[in-house]
Amino acid sequence: MPEKLIELSQGFLKADMHCHTYHSGLTGHMKAFEPMDSYNSPEDLYQLAKKRGMDLVTITDHDSIDGCLSFLNKHPDANDFFIGEEVTVKLPEYKTSVHANAIYVKQDLSAPTCNDCHGNHGAAPPGIASVANVCGQCHARQAELFQTSPHKKAFDDRQFGECITCHSNHAILKPNDSMIGTQQGALCINCHSNGDKGFAAAGMMRTRIDDLIAGIDKSTGILNQAERKGMEVSKPKFELKGATDALTHARVLIHSSSTAEVDKVVKPGLEAADKGYQAGVAALGEWKFRREGLAVSLIFILFLAFLVYLKIRQIEGRQPLKEIAKP
Ligand code: HEC
Ligand code: HEC
Ligand code: HEC
Ligand code: HEC
Repeated sequence: MPEKLIELSQGFLKADMHCHTYHSGLTGHMKAFEPMDSYNSPEDLYQLAKKRGMDLVTITDHDSIDGCLSFLNKHPDANDFFIGEEVTVKLPEYKTSVHANAIYVKQDLSAPTCNDCHGNHGAAPPGIASVANVCGQCHARQAELFQTSPHKKAFDDRQFGECITCHSNHAILKPNDSMIGTQQGALCINCHSNGDKGFAAAGMMRTRIDDLIAGIDKSTGILNQAERKGMEVSKPKFELKGATDALTHARVLIHSSSTAEVDKVVKPGLEAADKGYQAGVAALGEWKFRREGLAVSLIFILFLAFLVYLKIRQIEGRQPLKEIAKP
């Protein structure tokens, strides 16, 4: 470190830690025009930086120190230049995540890439107690519920990463119901054991969710059966949405860690499911009634036809035989 500069700046040195030269190559944007990240030579960049008052100069080309080496080759004695590089980092785990899937497969550009969570170029990992804020930029409801749940303080005190202790940070997978509960493989039993409140809550929440799923399946089943028989059930089918919405909502409310909160949506959800089931029962009843009615009227019609037939036979019987036999 050149002593003279430290004296000059009273312990502070000015340096722009992010500069590119043509050694960074093409940008990868607007490929048809083949634009470069920078058109500066290392020499030009050094002169410009000094002119703008930098004490130290570096070049941070993408994945290359060629620019730095070329400058140092020409100025081996430069004591205010050091080697830098902007390194591209790829995380294989990120590729497996719901976020990468949303971006690369579903073309949903609202899903986060590295800098949405880490900030542009800052690259610092989010602080352990602020992860919920990072995720909360997009998952506001879950973050809000988590912040007011007993887990917020419990996790921060123990330095468990918010959100990421349960979801991981890079390899975030699509969640499912088997994460909740007290069975093998559930998240909750990593920290809770039989006898504590968290364990009891985990069991209850899972039961509520399973009950609601069973209720929805039962109603959907009977309504589909009625529909196949030609009954009009589009209205109760639509109204069953109240139950499926409740299920979605309950899965979000898990983040409150409160069974009472989950119950608030599960109860009306179960009622909606039951209403759908009753509508299905009624539609099948109606179908049965109509079918029986059809059978009765069919028998009646056949009976009438038979009477008509008898009558015709009777009329024909009255005509004298000789008249019919006449040529
Ligand atoms: C959904 C948000 C999110 C995305 C997207 C994300 N990260 Fe992270 N990253 C985090 C969190 C949270 C941590 C952990 C912070 C902690 O433990 O304090 C972390 C930690 C890291 C770390 C520190 C080591 C480690 O693995 O814990 C590195 C390096 C890193 N991320 C690089 C990247 C890169 C490169 C990308 C893009 C491919 C990326 N991250 C995408 C949220 C994210
Ligand atoms: C910049 C916005 C953004 C940030 C920040 C973000 N996410 Fe996401 N997240 C999304 C989007 C978009 C999806 C994809 C939704 C889809 O395709 O169904 C998603 C999906 C998810 C899913 C799957 C949801 C599902 O129903 O399948 C989980 C779990 C998740 N994110 C957790 C996190 C966590 C934990 C963090 C913080 C470490 C985080 N996200 C940060 C936008 C974000
Ligand atoms: C990483 C560890 C961890 C995981 C995973 C975890 N918890 Fe907790 N939970 C805690 C800690 C620590 C507390 C604070 C009280 C304690 O020590 O039991 C707590 C508290 C609770 C409380 C409040 C208990 C009270 O005393 O009022 C409930 C309810 C709860 N958790 C439910 C759950 C459920 C449901 C799951 C699964 C979806 C879960 N927890 C997963 C660590 C965890
Ligand atoms: C104690 C463990 C735990 C913590 C902490 C946690 N989650 Fe979850 N999360 C779950 C579980 C379990 C599910 C799956 C619910 C289901 O599908 O039945 C889930 C589901 C999700 C989903 C999918 C949509 C939904 O709500 O069903 C998103 C998005 C999500 N979590 C985001 C977050 C964010 C953001 C944080 C931090 C603020 C967070 N989670 C903290 C356990 C946790």
